[in-house]
Amino acid sequence: MDVPGFALITGAASGIGKACAFAFAREGCAGIALLDLNAEALSSVRNEIQNIIDKRDDNKPTCRIEILPTDVTNEDQVTDHVQAVAKAFGRIDYVVNAAGIALKHAGGAAYATTESWQRVLDVNLNGTFYVLRASARIMLTQEPILSSLNNRPLQRGSIVNFSSIQGVVGITLSTAYTASKHAILGLTRSASEDYANQGLRINAVCPGYTETPMTTKNPEVLKAMQERVQTAVPMQRMGRPEEIADAVLYLAGGRSSFVTGSALAVDGGYTSR
Ligand SMILES: NC(=O)c1ccc[n+]([C@@H]2O[C@H](COP(=O)([O-])OP(=O)(O)OC[C@H]3O[C@@H](n4cnc5c(N)ncnc54)[C@H](O)[C@@H]3O)[C@@H](O)[C@H]2O)c1
Repeated sequence: MDVPGFALITGAASGIGKACAFAFAREGCAGIALLDLNAEALSSVRNEIQNIIDKRDDNKPTCRIEILPTDVTNEDQVTDHVQAVAKAFGRIDYVVNAAGIALKHAGGAAYATTESWQRVLDVNLNGTFYVLRASARIMLTQEPILSSLNNRPLQRGSIVNFSSIQGVVGITLSTAYTASKHAILGLTRSASEDYANQGLRINAVCPGYTETPMTTKNPEVLKAMQERVQTAVPMQRMGRPEEIADAVLYLAGGRSSFVTGSALAVDGGYTSR
């Protein structure tokens, strides 16, 4: 998948971010820096990936793994940790902004609390912005990476932000989440224009209903989702985290060399209706 460089992945302790960490390590990334609020789970993910690397007998170069417990809503901590990753690896080639939270507002927008609104916007939108800003500053000053694909323009960096089907459509009782995911597309499109001619690409992925702790931890939510999927999703199933990670690999690496400012739906056809 042409991801030979160094990756920084947020939300890497669970679900899609975790699947991305496995995918980058598997596809020959030189190093992955894993950031998440959950230090314990982050450590388990690191050990799981390290075990796989230690056992493999292919000729791929080894993948360095760094873990940095991080709260993406903490602007100073994000800046410090992104700089620390750049120092440890010497550069950052791919950023995956997967940290996120979801919640429903009982009674809808009319009864949404300011606290829940702010929390969702803080993590999903501000957190993504802080990581994007700190990473872009580093990427813009580094030499473009050598691509293994012939005759492709080289890339200085590639950032993948996490929107959602809720970045394109509204879903009931999800005011803050839907607003945050729509805003991610605005952030992605605007920032991508800023640096499109400097070898820094910025894209978004829009997953549909995907089986992760976000959607499976509450049995009632999961049951409602599985029922909804039967009528709302043309493929009539939920996605798997690995299926989203493959889209992220594509957007991060050299195969998407002419793609920037895009919003890639990976949703079993949900938004095509
Ligand atoms: N699962 C889905 O159906 C679905 C659909 C569309 C979009 N998404 C998006 O994909 C991304 C990943 O979601 P997931 O399903 O893997 O969820 P998940 O709950 O499995 O993982 C999210 C991770 O983000 C971390 N996180 C939360 N707040 C954080 C903070 N302040 N700082 C650092 N890390 C923090 C959590 O600890 C967790 O490890 C999210 O942005 C989500 O909105 C998910």
